[in-house]
Amino acid sequence: MNTVIPEISPNATPQEILQVGIAAANGPVSLACSFSLEDMAIIDIASKAGIALGVFALDTGRLNEETYEVADALVERYRLKIDWFFPRHEEVEKLERAEGLFSFRESLDKRHNCCHIRKVEPLSRALGELNGWVTGMRREQSVTRGDLKAIEHDTLNGGIIKINPLLDWNEEQLLSYTEAERLPKNRLYSQGYRSIGCAPCTRAVQPGEDARAGRWWWENPENKECGLHRR
Ligand code: ADX
Ligand code: SF4
Repeated sequence: MNTVIPEISPNATPQEILQVGIAAANGPVSLACSFSLEDMAIIDIASKAGIALGVFALDTGRLNEETYEVADALVERYRLKIDWFFPRHEEVEKLERAEGLFSFRESLDKRHNCCHIRKVEPLSRALGELNGWVTGMRREQSVTRGDLKAIEHDTLNGGIIKINPLLDWNEEQLLSYTEAERLPKNRLYSQGYRSIGCAPCTRAVQPGEDARAGRWWWENPENKECGLHRR
């Protein structure tokens, strides 16, 4: 795809980033939704601004029950349709028969393999239908996200447009938006979770710990990407 990345002011609001990014994509754009507070805020901002945005979600087969519950609340509130993508069942069967149910704890390679089967491959199918995608990533989330751009080419996914409207929001801004707009909230946040992925790879964090410390907690911070956001 040869789309030109538009100039965007460093002070652009999430709404402006969405509008400029979607216009540049010039075709279907969807939000990748993990039902995080970030994703809820983006849906709310888009809905209030009348911005048409599809929503897709990757059901890895290992999500928490609380995540399905908040997904349902989201659909109810905004009357939207979620395009769910599942992993290829033959690949999951092969993995679980050969390696068991918790192979991702044994090595980084095995963890990447599980993420590839359950997230990355379904993501590539989801993106195959799109000119652009939106994510809830923020710069402060991780050492791996510090150089995030508001709008970028996703060179690993056919060069489509990738839009990160909340890149400069801090956690406090996000929480105050969530409260002010009374957004649906995954119940796990009230149990000390600050970043939520698959159930066996996510846990609550202690006060003072990094927000993503509960993701793949047995790994080093620089490894804490699952492949969805390789750059
Ligand atoms: S992850 O790569 O470590 O799992 P993280 O949980 O921080 O990502 O979420 C960052 C963004 O990635 C989310 O705001 C969302 O846009 C996208 N994302 C993460 N997990 C999923 C999922 N299961 N389905 C769809 N999008 C997802
Ligand atoms: Fe597998 Fe854990 Fe990755 Fe989910 S986060 S796909 S369970 S390794």
